[in-house]
Order: sequence, then structure tokens, then C-alpha cells
Amino acid sequence: MSDDRLIVAMDVPNVLDGLELAKTLGDSVSFYKIGLGMLTGGGLALANELKQEHGKRIFLDMKFFDIGATVEAAVRGVAQFDLDFLTVHGDPHVVRAAREGAGGSDMKILAVTILTSLDRGDLDASCMKAGDVADLVLERAGIALSNGADGVIASPQEAALIRALPEAEGKLIVTPGVRPVGADLGDQKRVMTPAQAIANGADHVVVGRPIWRAASPRKAAMDIQAELASPQAKTPNQ
Ligand code: C5P
Repeated sequence: MSDDRLIVAMDVPNVLDGLELAKTLGDSVSFYKIGLGMLTGGGLALANELKQEHGKRIFLDMKFFDIGATVEAAVRGVAQFDLDFLTVHGDPHVVRAAREGAGGSDMKILAVTILTSLDRGDLDASCMKAGDVADLVLERAGIALSNGADGVIASPQEAALIRALPEAEGKLIVTPGVRPVGADLGDQKRVMTPAQAIANGADHVVVGRPIWRAASPRKAAMDIQAELASPQAKTPNQ
């Protein structure tokens, strides 16, 4: 089985393209992220098929946010499927409700702190508390973790600071915004390489376009796996 620290973001339009990608990547990838863009294209069916038929781990990136009762019901529904990670927003009532909904299942609840696409101007426009965005990310990470999240989603730049929080001991940090050296950045702004992200405290890196848009997705994935196996990808605890 390949190293499951690499999670491939399967941001393709539908189940058929997803299955094709999984076939192309074969045993070079063992963990997939399926997000909202795939919801109407059969995302949950694909998640189940990859899990049950292909033995892959699945990260369902739904970023739930609603009143507690609705979040709890939604998470209880997802928890019936044998999936590995699920995202919700990191607000305390949302995380607590998700924890309740997950019940005794093994599915990990990961909290989104502040979307990396938002800057201070966006937070002002939404009447969000004053302060440096990085400080608010740390504060929200601590709140989400102390309310029962199993981990947080963070940019690689934030990973080291979050890892140092007492609340983060034994918790997961999963980082998108990861680019191998020389890869097209796309719309990602503050990127790090897979090895740097792991060295900064990430447990898993999420990589999408540099793999699924590559001329050879399998080679792109295997190059990242080789990087993760290198001494540069040493975790802080090793
Ligand atoms: O193609 P790329 O590697 O940029 O894909 C990154 C994946 O991680 C996408 O599915 C994107 O939606 C997701 N993501 C992100 N930044 C966040 C949260 C999720 O890029 N803050």
C-alpha cells in the first residue's frame, strides 16, 4: 500500500472521470479527497466505491455549517458509510454537533479554521472579529480542537504554529496548498512543497491539479511519494 500521507483531491466532474483517475493512479495513491464540486456528480457513490471495491481511504470534504441539530443529523448520515475524514467549519457549536453525530464511528472530524482564500478585507466584509488573520486561524484551531475536532485543515504556513498549540497534541493537521517544486501554482498563493508541509507538522498533504492535470498523473503521484519518502519529509516528532 502506498504512503497515505498523500491525499489526492479528486476535483473531477463526475464518477466516471473519478474512477478513471483512480484506475490510472492505481497503487500509487491510497487516499482520495472528494469535495462539494463532485456532490451532484455522484460524489458519495464514488466515495463508497473507492472505499469498498478499491480499498482506498476517503476524505469527504463537505465543510458542513448549520444549526447544531442539522449538522448532527448530516454527520450521523455520513457516518453510516465507512469513510475516514469529514470536514465541518470550526465553530464550536458545529464541531460539538459533528462529534455527537459521528457517535462511535472511526470517521475523523476535521475543522476548517478560516478559508485560505479569505483575507482581512473579506473578514471585514463579513463582520468578523478584528485582528491578524494568522492569529485568528490559530485561535479558531484551538477552539475547534478543544471542542472535540480530531484535527484541522490548515495552510502549510499555519501548520507549525498549530502543531505547537497544546490543544493540537495527538490531533491531525491536513494541509492543501501544496505544490511540488516547479509545479503550476494555479490559484494557490502561499504554497509549500509536500516535504516542507510534513516538516512543518502536517500529517497529510492534499494535492489536486499537479496530479490529475499532469500529462502522467501516475508519475506525478509517484514523484510526490518519493519526496515524502526522502529525509526532507521528516516529521517534527521523528
Ligand atoms: O488542485 P489543488 O492542489 O490546488 O487542490 C487543493 C484541494 O484542496 C482542492 O480540492 C481545494 O478545494 C482544497 N482546499 C484548498 N484550500 C483550502 C481548503 C481546501 O485548496 N483552504
